[in-house]
Amino acid sequence: MSTGSVPIVTPPLGEWAFDRRGPEHSKRVYDWWGRHDWAYRAFVNGYLLGREGAFRTRTVESLGLDPGDWVLDVGCGPGPNFDVLADAVGPTGALVGVDASEGMVERATARGTTLDCSATVLQADAARLPLRDASVDAACATLSLSAMPDIPAVVDQLARVLRPGGRLAVLDARPFEAAYARWLNPFIERAAAYLTNWYPDADIVGAVDERFADTTLRTFQGGSIYVLTGRNGTER
Ligand SMILES: C[S@@+](CC[C@H](N)C(=O)[O-])C[C@H]1O[C@@H](n2cnc3c(N)ncnc32)[C@H](O)[C@@H]1O
Repeated sequence: MSTGSVPIVTPPLGEWAFDRRGPEHSKRVYDWWGRHDWAYRAFVNGYLLGREGAFRTRTVESLGLDPGDWVLDVGCGPGPNFDVLADAVGPTGALVGVDASEGMVERATARGTTLDCSATVLQADAARLPLRDASVDAACATLSLSAMPDIPAVVDQLARVLRPGGRLAVLDARPFEAAYARWLNPFIERAAAYLTNWYPDADIVGAVDERFADTTLRTFQGGSIYVLTGRNGTER
């Protein structure tokens, strides 16, 4: 069956990349990235066209953190948000990182020891967060939700562990929307499915919009990068 316009990646290769995705593949690839932090940072910064720091800062700033807050970093990876999160919550605040990959948890735990605030990193599935209800003031997820297969379950968990009124900020990637770059999508989707367990069709914006109030969405890089925010609460 033809998938349309791009002959570079054949349909069988596409199926192969998509079919590999799952918890085992995710742990394997992210354990590898965790052991090769330099490669991970180069990959992420390259994908964000050299603006990784600016995107992370924008995402954390949108949480409106106060000194003393408890903040959750879901799918924290090696902890690239930790410095800016720790600066925002200060020495009286606390940071909790959660990641499914042992390699990433090791790397993030080491990073956490260098911070001024309390930092705990837990190895867990974001769809079953090992945190009490309403136990954190804010949560961020950077480039992580789109690597997870069950977005509604993860978003439900985020709403459960955030206190009422607590803010969520998501930085993530999705296929290009701009016409000038859409031709790249078939190649990027398959490469990222293999390299990062990517689920390009995950409706993260829809799931957050359904569960959270006051959502905002800003897009960048031809619509392929976005920062999504929302506030936890029952009234909309
Ligand atoms: C692309 S990395 C992003 C890491 C980091 N947040 C960043 O901004 O660079 C995706 C991370 O999500 C984690 N992850 C994937 N599925 C997960 C799940 N179900 N539960 C928790 N973490 C998960 C991976 O182990 C990986 O560290």
